[in-house]
Amino acid sequence: MQYDVIVIGSGPGGYVAAIRCAQLGLKTAIIEKYTTLGGTCLNVGCIPSKALLDSSEHYHNAAHTFETHGIELKNLKVNLPQMIKRKNEVVEQTTGGITYLMKKNKIDTFYGIGSFVDKNIINIKKADGSNEKITAKNVIIATGSKPTQLPFLKTDGKRIITSTEALNLKEIPKHLILIGGGVIGLELGSVYARLGAKVTVVEFLDAIIPTMDKTLGKELQKSLTKLGIQFLLSHKVTGATVKGDKVTVTADSPKGEKVVLEGDYCLVAVGRTAYTDGLGLDKIGITVEERGKKITVDAHLETKVKGIYAIGDVITGAMLAHKAEDEGTFVAEVIAGQKPHINYNLIPGVVYTWPEVAAVGYTEEQLKASGTAYKTGSFPFKASGRARASMDTDGLIKVLADAKTDEILGVHMIGPRVADVIAEAVVAMEFRASAEDICRISHAHPTYTEAFKEACLAATDNRALHV
Ligand code: FAD
Ligand code: NAI
Repeated sequence: MQYDVIVIGSGPGGYVAAIRCAQLGLKTAIIEKYTTLGGTCLNVGCIPSKALLDSSEHYHNAAHTFETHGIELKNLKVNLPQMIKRKNEVVEQTTGGITYLMKKNKIDTFYGIGSFVDKNIINIKKADGSNEKITAKNVIIATGSKPTQLPFLKTDGKRIITSTEALNLKEIPKHLILIGGGVIGLELGSVYARLGAKVTVVEFLDAIIPTMDKTLGKELQKSLTKLGIQFLLSHKVTGATVKGDKVTVTADSPKGEKVVLEGDYCLVAVGRTAYTDGLGLDKIGITVEERGKKITVDAHLETKVKGIYAIGDVITGAMLAHKAEDEGTFVAEVIAGQKPHINYNLIPGVVYTWPEVAAVGYTEEQLKASGTAYKTGSFPFKASGRARASMDTDGLIKVLADAKTDEILGVHMIGPRVADVIAEAVVAMEFRASAEDICRISHAHPTYTEAFKEACLAATDNRALHV
């Protein structure tokens, strides 16, 4: 078969690229090595983790906040198999939706491992051992990423696990030891802490979510400590051993003391590594970076081989589903001869803990490092009527604006539903709004979005109204 475009990998990068190519009139095929479409995000990432976060949040509220709301429950208990079953149904519906979208857009779907024969011919090795070759003028590599393995602490999929197994546990851990205080660790740690597990986070650096604005990590640590999660920061993990159903993790404390932790599960969440195994990149002369294994691309997301593009987790930048999607659209439009644009500085980052964490633009640390003159305004959720009504008063919104022009340079939020509230900041910054612009826009009352307006008021001559 001869195509205009072959997409290898059906995650949010790959399937969106395929749909946009088809919309632009390009004859398109997509290849996926697993039997369901949707990649990490839909199968073992964003969607299942959010399903479990939502279920565990319901339980946690029923156990801890309903009584204050005046709702009494008796014999409350967790049915973990049912929780996992519902999560699996959500995954099935969502991945099934992608199969439907491929058909609707007349995209040919091939199941098997795609690899380069040369720059135009892709071999598909199918599960039954047979091979099929298809040809295209352009190929988009969207093969995503896999959990990073620590060389001295290999996962066994049973007691020392990655996020994939953590989404399918058969029991609530008694003590879950998390290696890595990043996004995966804190989201999945929250799930099991809410369900009653003891959770200990061992983080190498001196802060959790260390790549985000420092205020957010500090505030989140306070809230998660209230949930019962324990943090060992600046600790260097040295190894883990499994004996029966027990796992022992060793680490060095900042003072050089040996720390020994005993638990029944250890989740390793120290980042993800680009995945290119089996692609046959050597056949077309593409090499990957030594660390991180990422494929190098130019400003058009084209590799050094003309007509071969790469997007999503397999290339540089944030490993986020919406970043992969935006790059999928971008590459399809480049291939169709258009001139698309992505503003990488305005890709929001969200952590779906409770309170949620969300950010866009520059952090305060980045502005300081670049010598930019900026002003700040912040507003605590405890001063928000909406947050008091819902009993979600932890957190704040911080706005960073240019000291001279008042243009918003960064927005950092921790609080209720800020995963959604951040969208307003993204739109504002895409249109290069000033903090005062937001102050002059009506915000429905009572909503969490008022906290953003108040933070902008605080950044504009300290004019916040409700603090
Ligand atoms: P992937 O989604 O990894 O898809 C790549 C696909 O390519 C896979 O299906 C793979 O099987 C296939 N493939 C690989 N090699 C071949 C080959 N040779 N032939 C055929 N097929 C191949 N991001 C967010 O933005 N929000 C979140 O809430 C969020 N939550 C997450 C939670 C967890 C637990 C994890 C692990 C990740 C989460 N992420 C989240 C990150 C997000 O899942 C990734 O950034 C996103 O999936 C990357 O998309 P992609 O298309 O680049 O690759
Ligand atoms: P991460 O990069 O978010 O966090 C990894 C953490 O592990 C860091 O804090 C790092 O300092 C720490 N670490 C590294 N080596 C260590 C060691 N030896 N000992 C102790 N700590 C160590 O990576 P994570 O959580 O694995 O997530 C992978 C990717 O998946 C992220 O890049 C993220 O973008 C994406 N993701 C996004 C989500 C979202 O958008 N809500 C949810 C889950 C994942």
